[in-house]
Amino acid sequence: MRQKTVYECKSCGQKTPKWLGRCSACGEWNTLEEVKPETAVSDSSLQAVRNEIKLARRMEEGPRPDFVKLEEIEEKSATRRLSTGIRELDRTLGGGLVPDAFTLLGGDPGIGKSTLLLQMMRGLIETNSEISVLYVTGEESLNQIAARAKRLGVEGHGRIFLAAETQLERVFASVYELKPSVVVLDSLQTFSSQYSESAPGSVSQVREITSRLMTLAKTAGIAVWLVGHVTKDGSIAGPKTVEHMVDTVLYFEGEGGQSYRLLRTVKNRFGNTNELGVFEMEGEGLSEVENPSSLFLTERKELVPGTAVAASLEGTRPLLIELQALTVPSGLAMPRRTASGLEQSKLSILSAILERHMGLPLLSRDLFFNVSGGMRLSEPACDLAAAAAIWSSIEETPIPGDWVFLGELALTGEVRRATQIEIRIQEAQKLGFRHLVIPDSTPAKSLRGIEAKIHRVSRIAELAKILA
Ligand code: TYD
Ligand code: MG
Repeated sequence: MRQKTVYECKSCGQKTPKWLGRCSACGEWNTLEEVKPETAVSDSSLQAVRNEIKLARRMEEGPRPDFVKLEEIEEKSATRRLSTGIRELDRTLGGGLVPDAFTLLGGDPGIGKSTLLLQMMRGLIETNSEISVLYVTGEESLNQIAARAKRLGVEGHGRIFLAAETQLERVFASVYELKPSVVVLDSLQTFSSQYSESAPGSVSQVREITSRLMTLAKTAGIAVWLVGHVTKDGSIAGPKTVEHMVDTVLYFEGEGGQSYRLLRTVKNRFGNTNELGVFEMEGEGLSEVENPSSLFLTERKELVPGTAVAASLEGTRPLLIELQALTVPSGLAMPRRTASGLEQSKLSILSAILERHMGLPLLSRDLFFNVSGGMRLSEPACDLAAAAAIWSSIEETPIPGDWVFLGELALTGEVRRATQIEIRIQEAQKLGFRHLVIPDSTPAKSLRGIEAKIHRVSRIAELAKILA
């Protein structure tokens, strides 16, 4: 489009289509200059306006906004959970299975993920009479699953369906046909979508599958479980690559050679994280461990120096765990600090506090630290027990088996109160501990009904006096 030239007077602003030597409005000479004409509305901004109008119209015509009262949501979700029939599993899920939840179960190959999920399916159909479940395996043959089911004594009652399939679209077809309440896919790394070119197990393929399954869970209201093997080499994408995409992440763990298994909640949009379920792998599958503290307190026939019991808390569950320390004279300029079940840096901090505020000669000693049963300590409340174990090793003085310690150590050497101290104290009492070493600041009401002897400490230096 040809645009007309416009001249404007610098002095009075008068516009004229023709150049003049003298402004016809103000009479000044040589004040007219050529200016670019303003187009009132450019084509592109016109288009933007049209789009806005369209959008506004569509909003008027489209679905009405949808909202509910807060109380209604809470009422609904309270009644909406399905019990898996396995108490340890229900607790780690935050009180049962949410019907449209997408759960990722990670763990090393061979740890027992498929076993757990098969037992869960049994639990689900036995506790919820109206539901059916679908187990899709991309790894094993149907005969292998049937053999495992037989070994576990799982009966289908016509409501457990199995499929050996690796193509996602075909899994969806089965799901739409069966309309199960729960679908398990075992495992993530074996499935592929026909719309993705990448190899099964690649990062983009596992992400594609995970996102499609999330849509399935939410739109169809089906609880989806996805198994993901933890992988050692980088050639196959591990469960970590999709953790952010799912509602709940559980990890199934065990110690080499040991029969117990820990089910940890790493992420949960429907409950607490750090929950812990404890199982034992036996000949007939996984059994629940009612009193896990008994697992983590090693049987001690005779008293040995270097151990102390901590009252830890895993999620909502109190757990008494034995801590072990070994100190030996060190020839190194930088003495060794080796920890298993505890962060290396945490052990260094503890050593520094004990050296400075308790006068323990740790600078000249190597220190090895272990948490029994392959547990991991992430809790500051176990500091006091760790200190006691280290003290005991250095002094070569055993701590009797009926003592328990709980308290956090500050860098200043103060012993501080642990969270939820009452639950921990109650557990210790239940398990028959006779001596409780606790922070001085523990309120008296937390000790109501406690028969054990109470030893209060406000600074770590006082610990030696109590133990000597
Ligand atoms: P599995 O559930 O197949 O592990 P994952 O799915 O995590 O790879 O369990 C494999 C191990 O569990 C296998 O080494 C055998 C053992 N197991 C038992 O000890 N008892 C049992 O009843 C079952 C079914 C398995
Ligand atoms: Mg398996």
